Amino acid sequence: MTAIKGILLAGGTGSRLYPLTSVITKQMLPVYDKPLLYYPLATLMLAGIRDILIITTPEEQPSYQRLLGDGGQFGISLSYATQPSPNGIAEALLIGRSFLAGARVMLILGDNIFFGHGLQPVLHAAREKTHGATIFGYWVSDPERFGVVDLDADGNPTAITEKPDNPRSHYAVTGLYSYDHRASELAAELTPSARGELEITDLNCRYLERGELSVHRLQRGFAWLDAGTPDALLDAANYVATLERRQGLKIGCVEEIAWRAGWIDDHDLERLSAPIRDVDYGRYLLKLLDE
Ligand code: G1P
Repeated sequence: MTAIKGILLAGGTGSRLYPLTSVITKQMLPVYDKPLLYYPLATLMLAGIRDILIITTPEEQPSYQRLLGDGGQFGISLSYATQPSPNGIAEALLIGRSFLAGARVMLILGDNIFFGHGLQPVLHAAREKTHGATIFGYWVSDPERFGVVDLDADGNPTAITEKPDNPRSHYAVTGLYSYDHRASELAAELTPSARGELEITDLNCRYLERGELSVHRLQRGFAWLDAGTPDALLDAANYVATLERRQGLKIGCVEEIAWRAGWIDDHDLERLSAPIRDVDYGRYLLKLLDE
């Protein structure tokens, strides 16, 4: 049994992006030079997770399978499951229950982009924790749009509230969660909220009540972006483009992450580059081999 597995939740209708999302699902939309989904997938891979379940709507599942296949090309294993209706983030842990088979889990939302110096050690620290849950707080100007975590003077969580009218802190709960082996079991005890969803905030509160919830605050200078609205999508693309052009280094490049982790070798990377060797992305991958 793998000690920790990943779940990437890419459900939802993306209604705030219509008409962009009337025939294409949100997580397939481009963020500069790659589909949005690559970024959260890259985050799980940077955490060292190689066994990942991708949850989509039933209609969209074939396009995800076409894009990513079984993950073997990246040296990882991808499985697929569906969420027929948007019944909440915590439902992902019920849908993924047999996939997890008692393993710990890192769950990420398909529209969340994390980028910043030191991300990998932060992810590794969370994945090493065998008991309890870890969430990631990020200071935002508009906390009322998110789950919000209140912290005491020592940085320990005292409460989490989903989209509060009067937030008591600026720390949004980001869409990345690390849970011990009890996540599915505890999620099964939840009841739907007023908006009819199994709330991830309610699950986090269960861990909090038991004194088993840690909050890692992502520092200033770190980027946590979502792509839920046209403006957010454009901001994310501009952010990625600015850094990639300046440094000549890619963000969220799953092929590169797999290669650097040693999950694929030089030949594998060359094979992945071959069909796209005439475009910037393929040239970038090939150049890695000259390092
Ligand atoms: C969800 C969660 C919320 C979290 C946010 C992060 O919000 O319910 O707690 O802060 O994701 O992206 P939703 O996207 O359902 O509005």
